[in-house]
Amino acid sequence: MELVGLISLNLSRNLLTRRITTEIGALRSLEVLDLSENQLSGGIPSSIALINSLNFLDLSNNNLSGIIPTGPQLSTFNATAYEGDPNLCGFPLPKKCPGETTQNPAVNRGGDLASIQETEDGFITPGFYVSVALGFVISFLGVFGTSLLNRSWRFSHFNFLNNVKDKLDATVVVNMARLRRQHQT
Ligand SMILES: *[C@@H]1O[C@H](CO)[C@@H](O)[C@H](O)[C@H]1NC(C)=O
Ligand SMILES: *[C@@H]1O[C@H](CO)[C@@H](O)[C@H](O)[C@H]1NC(C)=O
Repeated sequence: MELVGLISLNLSRNLLTRRITTEIGALRSLEVLDLSENQLSGGIPSSIALINSLNFLDLSNNNLSGIIPTGPQLSTFNATAYEGDPNLCGFPLPKKCPGETTQNPAVNRGGDLASIQETEDGFITPGFYVSVALGFVISFLGVFGTSLLNRSWRFSHFNFLNNVKDKLDATVVVNMARLRRQHQT
């Protein structure tokens, strides 16, 4: 699950048992995932919806159960990806999940992120968004906050930017003149 550059994984017909690890979502480069004809059980981890490059999926003929996760990429696969797993339910299978009112993937799509957050493996949690926001604020303050707080730093900061701009302007003018001269000769 650390081979983040892996493009194709075929573990079909290997007598594999137990669950598909939730870390499968870390294999972001996967285009082909074939886990068919094993004895895998448990749910399909919702993190599988995070593999945007996936264009072939086969989880058929295992003993997987529960709701098939939704996602823009997952909605492109049809029921053959899941056939022979009698306890799976939800789109694209005809079998509805308990409490499911609609099988229209267009309706599900709006709730993709919500359903990813709600599922048990919690790959994307509210904490994830908090960390992203915090990281942004801290980096922003690191660069601009110091020069806003400190007058002399502020002047040297903008002086530096001005100098860079002047140098660039001068270089452009000189090179334009040189080009024009070469063009005329
Ligand atoms: C995976 O391997 C099996 C045979 O071991 C083969 O039948 C199947 O087509 C392969 N899957 C893909 C996607 O190539
Ligand atoms: C398949 O999984 C169910 C639980 O979802 C379990 O009760 C059953 O024994 C499993 N069948 C096989 C053949 O492993």
